Amino acid sequence: MPWGKTAIARAAALIAEGQPVAIPTETVYGLAARADSGEAVARIYAAKGRPSFNPLIIHVASMEQAEQIAHFDDTARDLAARFWPGPLTLVLPLREGAPIASLATAGLDTIALRMPAHPAMHALLEATGLPLAAPSANASGGISPTRAEHVLASLGGRIPLIVDAGPTGLGLESTIVRVKDGALEILRPGPVTPEMLGLPVRFTTDDAIIAPGQLASHYAPSKPLRLNATSAGPGEWLIGFGTVAGNSSLSPSGDLAEAATRLFDLLHQADATTFSKISVAPIPNHGLGLAINDRLTRAAAPR
Ligand code: TXA
Ligand code: MG
Repeated sequence: MPWGKTAIARAAALIAEGQPVAIPTETVYGLAARADSGEAVARIYAAKGRPSFNPLIIHVASMEQAEQIAHFDDTARDLAARFWPGPLTLVLPLREGAPIASLATAGLDTIALRMPAHPAMHALLEATGLPLAAPSANASGGISPTRAEHVLASLGGRIPLIVDAGPTGLGLESTIVRVKDGALEILRPGPVTPEMLGLPVRFTTDDAIIAPGQLASHYAPSKPLRLNATSAGPGEWLIGFGTVAGNSSLSPSGDLAEAATRLFDLLHQADATTFSKISVAPIPNHGLGLAINDRLTRAAAPR
């Protein structure tokens, strides 16, 4: 259903009933459900086929709502002021008595919070007045959706509504940062780069925290994927970048922002061709390239 007043009213009614709804954010399409209801959150897991021990990102409309859910220290408040609404998720201590079903946090005493910038998601948050749990709207482990058509192909028939606002602007999931004792840890690289954060950060890759985006195999197409390819091998659909032309290109001019926006779309496209394998050109590992290479490495990991 195209995004607009009618779609948001319909979506809000479904959310109130505890149903999950697919809706775009500025990063990827999310599958949203009211975070205060265990039954509603369970419907997200069921539709995605996601292992239920994985905690979800909780989306909020305002700082007031966020502070009711989590404890913010000065560092967290500063990050929220600088990057919200926007593609930054903060992992913070969960407030006791917060209106969040324990299934949404997988029983952890921390919570992943973000205030999204997309007008459709923002309108839904405003209309429901509820915090919304929303992982990417794809079957668990698959390629994230940057268009309504991707959601339809992956979850069609399993969810009651897809709000369609065209392709998402950023194309990669939010950066996840854990704020602990004033220090920052990047749990998932994303559109907000370490340079943009402008604070000392460390990357946490091998951690006890259960984060599906951190599983070795994730974001995966159905075909074998080879990285750092400068030419196509036999049977391979080559996704190019910069001077590597390929069958399609993430960015002929070598622009990392353009490549981030197009990454999941071109992976979906490559997966749908008759070619039996996919390869991807080398992507420079700085700035947004960190997040692109993170997703590509997981997409290429053995299953
Ligand atoms: O851009 C995004 O963040 C998208 C859009 C829809 O907002 N959402 C998204 O959610 O990517 P999801 O559920 O696919 O990814 C959530 C990530 C997972 O890696 C999860 O494990 C991690 O957040 N996470 C959630 N709660 C956490 C916690 N308490 N500690 C550490 N990681 C957590
Ligand atoms: Mg996901």
